[in-house]
Amino acid sequence: MGNIFDQKFHEIDSSFFYKILRLRVDVFVVEQNCPYPELDGFDLALNTRHIWIANEDTPVSYLRLVNEDEKTNRISRVVTSVDNRGEGLAKTLVEHVINTTSGKLTLDAQTYLENWYMEMGFVANGETFEECCGQETNPGILHVPMVHEREID
Ligand SMILES: CC(C)(COP(=O)(O)OP(=O)(O)OC[C@H]1O[C@@H](n2cnc3c(N)ncnc32)[C@H](O)[C@@H]1OP(=O)(O)O)[C@@H](O)C(=O)NCCC(=O)NCCS
Repeated sequence: MGNIFDQKFHEIDSSFFYKILRLRVDVFVVEQNCPYPELDGFDLALNTRHIWIANEDTPVSYLRLVNEDEKTNRISRVVTSVDNRGEGLAKTLVEHVINTTSGKLTLDAQTYLENWYMEMGFVANGETFEECCGQETNPGILHVPMVHEREID
């Protein structure tokens, strides 16, 4: 474990991509009790980067970078499997993005992670909002928009 993989959809073996989707659904839909369109269409975009660390042939930490425009990329789906949390894996992936991507980085942080992102140079740039709301069993997950501004290369 330790190598960072950084690939486009068409470069990733389909059975491995299935494992990435399984990790995302296990956490964002099942663990966080949130029925939402996890498969939103951005995964296949030619300039979307899938970035992960694997334990043997299983992804254990992952995030996705979606190109918004020529100066902005959006980090999303930041996730680590339950068994591998607290080992610095997600931080390693976010720092990889910071070090390999020019322009502005945006994300919507779950508010409990605001300080974690701030330590990596992100600042809040909007009001908190609820996503995945309206159900009796899950009143919604609070998010805050954040940005990491750098010089454009
Ligand atoms: C958030 C998440 C991706 C962090 O992954 P990770 O690989 O454990 O992160 P790191 O080891 O790099 O960093 C851990 C730090 O994140 C913060 N953190 C992680 N989970 C946290 C939690 N449940 N509550 C509060 N802080 C948390 C802590 O500051 C922790 O610091 P510590 O190691 O000193 O305790 C992981 O907990 C996860 O998958 N959570 C569920 C999905 C989610 O909420 N994703 C974020 C979308 S914005």
